[in-house]
Formats: sequence, structure tokens, C-alpha cells
Amino acid sequence: MDFLSLFSFFSHDVAIDLGTANTLIYVKGRGIVVEEPSVVTWDERLKKVVAIGTEARSMEGKTPGNIRTIRPMKDGVIDDDEVAEEMIRQFIKRVKVGTFSGRPRMIVCVPSGVTKSEKRIIRSAAENAGAREVFLISEPMAAALGVGLPVDEPEGSMVVDIGGGTTEIAVISLSGIVSENSIRIAGNKMNQAIIEFMRSHYKLLIGERTAEKIKIGIGSAYELDEELTFTAKGRDLIAGLPKETIVNSTEIRKVLAPVIKSIIQAVKSALEKTPGELSADIRDRGIVLTGGGALLKGLDQKLQEETDLPVVMADTPLTCVVRGTGKVLEDMNRYYKVLLTE
Ligand SMILES: Nc1ncnc2c1ncn2[C@@H]1O[C@H](COP(=O)(O)OP(=O)(O)OP(=O)(O)O)[C@@H](O)[C@H]1O
Ligand SMILES: [Mg+2]
Repeated sequence: MDFLSLFSFFSHDVAIDLGTANTLIYVKGRGIVVEEPSVVTWDERLKKVVAIGTEARSMEGKTPGNIRTIRPMKDGVIDDDEVAEEMIRQFIKRVKVGTFSGRPRMIVCVPSGVTKSEKRIIRSAAENAGAREVFLISEPMAAALGVGLPVDEPEGSMVVDIGGGTTEIAVISLSGIVSENSIRIAGNKMNQAIIEFMRSHYKLLIGERTAEKIKIGIGSAYELDEELTFTAKGRDLIAGLPKETIVNSTEIRKVLAPVIKSIIQAVKSALEKTPGELSADIRDRGIVLTGGGALLKGLDQKLQEETDLPVVMADTPLTCVVRGTGKVLEDMNRYYKVLLTE
């Protein structure tokens, strides 16, 4: 085996969806190899990672003083660069890419509303984590590719990706984004609204994970055929003791309504900015929903009612972005145009 073939054999380029809630990694020729929460348990004294991903999340809220669980991503961008860098490095190490051949090329997704300096931080984190070369792609473009929309054709496609930190809305045609909207309101804001409601209404202190369980279990954007209940466990704010409170889906829907309203408003304003010809395409083909937040019960129905457009839920909404980025990796010649330029 000569040097060149050795190189192409071992050099696996990677696509990373560095999300606020979840990090996914796709390796060229192999598919999705990492799908874990974006959480790191960090030893403050030793400046060292104790655990990452699922293992780190299971320690959340249960660590002693010098050890912290950190979510290095906030609102779709890096909030703690040292920890984010370590997290990427460890995930990459785990999937054993570029060990012999040198460093992999990386395509990293960024929210479409990302600023120059946020881009710089993501780029340098990926480089420090071992990338030979870093390319960026906007999340809704990746999501659209991931669901198989014809992004490089002269046809309008609209995708709404609701993640943990951001909602990304884009109308795409001919490999470019024609109109877009990105708001830092998504799944996490729904959890926060639930935490705040439980505190003010029931005087019950609950954690982020319990709030998420309530949201996934009984949260909704549209009336349910059968309303549901959930037994929430937390700490009574007055007595200071553990307590259980039963909440129902009707009250949680009211709590989530302002967040849903902001998301729908953002979709409407992207539609208003869309040129007529493309609007007609969207009227025919509808809006495609991706991202974990899109799984909220009845969100598709609510969006359909509010926009009067067909709404289609992606098959596997949590993996669309990384699969789309993976598509670019697998066929750079066809898709290089969708990458962001400086
Ligand atoms: N069944 C469900 N119902 C409602 N919300 C859900 C469901 N499943 C997952 N979620 C929410 O989806 C969000 C995570 O989605 P996703 O992994 O797409 O986000 P992300 O890519 O990490 O974030 P971002 O793109 O904003 O950086 C979380 O807020 C999670 O609570
Ligand atoms: Mg995302």
C-alpha cells in the first residue's frame, strides 16, 4: 500500500452537529457514530473532563463541589470554549478518526443567525480539537439536505428546525438561503417556562430534566384527543421537603403557548419575506419540520392551522441536520456550494 492510498484509507472526514441539547457526529463512509447530549462533567481543580455525553448527563445536579456539569453550548453557539473544545476532542477520539493519517476535515453546523465572532470561536474550537480544515454549514440548509429536499434545484423548499436553543427557519433554492429567520427560542425555553410555572403556581422547585419529562410526556401545542396528567417530583419551596404534584396537559399547553406563539410568528415573518414564485412552491410542497423541539405534540397541527400551509414532519427529526451535513461530506463536488463562505 503506498502512502496515498494509506492516507485515503485512514483519513475519515467528519460532520458535526454541535447542538445546544445534542451533539451528533457522522463519519464519511460510516454514517452516524455519535448521538449524545452536549454535556460535560468537568473537574474545576484539575481542569479535566470527568465524563461526556450520556454519562455526564446522568451526573447532572448530583456532583460534589469541585466537579461541575457543564452544557458548553447555549442558544446554538459555544458558550464555554474550553469545555466545548474538550467535548469535541473526546467525541472524535472515541470514534477513532484520523489516528494514523493525521487530522480529519470537519464540517460543523452553525445557526443561520450566527455572528462573525461566534463563527470564529466554533472554527477555532474544531481546529483545537484536531481538525485539519474546518468548513461551516448553516443548520437549516443541513436539515433540508437531511430530509432530502431538492436544495440545489430552482425550487423553493421551506424548513423549520426547532432545536434546544434555536429555531431556524429558511427558504432554500439553488443551494442558497433566500429568506431566513433564526430566533433563540426553542425547546429549552419551553423547559424554562415549565420550571417557572411549577415554582410560581405550585411552589414546587423542579430541575431541568423533570421539566423536560413533563414537556415530552404531556406538553402540547394543540388540544389533545385525551388530556393527560403527569406526577412531577421536586422540592416544596415553603416546607423545603420533597413533594409530588400532579399537573395536567391543559395547564402545560397554556404555559407553552407564548413560546409556540414566538415560533409561529418567526415562521410567518420568514414567509412574508419570501419572493412570490417561491411562495407558490411552498404552498404546493409545504413546510418541513425538523429538530427535537418539532416533536412537541400537536405542533405540526398548530403550525398548519396558523399558516394555512401543509406541514410535514421529518421522519427522524433529531438526526436530519447531521445526515444532511454527512451528505455534503460524501459528495463535496456536488454540494460544496451550500457551505458558508467567510
Ligand atoms: N418528544 C419530544 N417532544 C418535545 N420536545 C422534544 C421531544 N424530544 C426531544 N425534544 C426536545 O428537543 C430539543 C433537542 O432537539 P435537538 O437535538 O434537535 O436540539 P439541538 O440540535 O441540540 O439544539 P440547537 O439546534 O438549538 O442547537 C430539546 O429541547 C428536547 O427537550
Ligand atoms: Mg440543532
